[in-house]
Amino acid sequence: MVKEKKDFSITPYEVGGQVDYSKLIKEFGVSKLDSRTLERIKKQTGELHVFLRRGIFFAHRDLNWLLDEYDAGNKFFLYTGRAPSKGSRVHLGHLIPWIMCQWLQEKFDVDMWFQFPDEEKFLYKPDITLEDTEQATYEDMLDVIALGFRPEKTKFLIDTKHAGIMYKEACKVAKKITFSMVKSSFGFNESNNVGSIFYTAMQAVPAFLPSVIKKKNIPCLIPLGIDQDPHFRISRDVMPKLGYYKPAIMHNVFLPPLTGIGGKMAASSGSETAIYTTDTPEEVKKKINKYAFSGGQATIEEHRKKGGNPDIDVSFQYLKMFFEPDDNKLQKIHDDYKSGKLLTGELKAILIEKINKFLSEHQKKREQAKKMIDKFVLKN
Ligand code: TRP
Repeated sequence: MVKEKKDFSITPYEVGGQVDYSKLIKEFGVSKLDSRTLERIKKQTGELHVFLRRGIFFAHRDLNWLLDEYDAGNKFFLYTGRAPSKGSRVHLGHLIPWIMCQWLQEKFDVDMWFQFPDEEKFLYKPDITLEDTEQATYEDMLDVIALGFRPEKTKFLIDTKHAGIMYKEACKVAKKITFSMVKSSFGFNESNNVGSIFYTAMQAVPAFLPSVIKKKNIPCLIPLGIDQDPHFRISRDVMPKLGYYKPAIMHNVFLPPLTGIGGKMAASSGSETAIYTTDTPEEVKKKINKYAFSGGQATIEEHRKKGGNPDIDVSFQYLKMFFEPDDNKLQKIHDDYKSGKLLTGELKAILIEKINKFLSEHQKKREQAKKMIDKFVLKN
């Protein structure tokens, strides 16, 4: 028998190749986020965020259970996170699950727990100290606060700072995880350091810590990039053994790098493939014009005649996934590009303006966030 060749691989520590999301649904054993479940969300929220309408969140685990609980008066809390890392600034792709959380917090009026595992990258990367991640944590917190989370309903957990309340719970999780589970989930082997083997237990903790604190079981919903799913596949096995609900999960696709659809915008693969939240308008313009992969034709004449291909055009995909929520406007851009009426340069100009408008707002709020950090970090 010929073994099917895998043309992509996804773990929390590696995303490579052209990602096939329908294959991923099968391989990970998650459910497709279908219109029935979306309708249930819409019934509560009145409208659907563009990330939900356009399939940016495409899969889930136990979302219908979570909504059943909600209908029965059992409110959930939200949880997601970001591992601070030296030289890895927040880019637009990171914002997708965080924006989703902020929207869900607003619509469902629920608590939000945001984890900053400041030991994670230290454990996994060779050239990074715990002091490096301290500064990175600060920068990352500004981006999260800037998105508009409610201070009175949002708690930041920083692993090394909140180890006191987290460690005991992490030990309970760790006792139920074997090395062989971690090996198969993350592709580890005997030479991985023991800190990285333990780490997944720390990432599990915020999914039930609010239940520990409140001394009652509270459902949890985790919006995340699908590469983080393996951590929670393990946690979902363990948590019922500790007496807690399995957390529900919503998975988003990756925002593609500027250089072409299929992969993941990554801070580590060079600054030309990602747009960072701190980029200047000039940098954004330069990057889009120079690097955004185009589905247009080589010459204007040819483009007018044959038209462009929006499906592989990164600028169009960014508008679709993130920056043009108006369905009619998006459709017109799509049709004009396809017919050759809209040129690549013009399409890029639309995107550049949208991104810069978004970033100028974000950067203003990011400045204001500097005075608000204390309101968000959990009091020890
Ligand atoms: N491991 C994540 C990262 O590398 C950070 C993280 C911690 C996280 N807790 C989470 C991500 C919960 C999603 C959901 O950035």
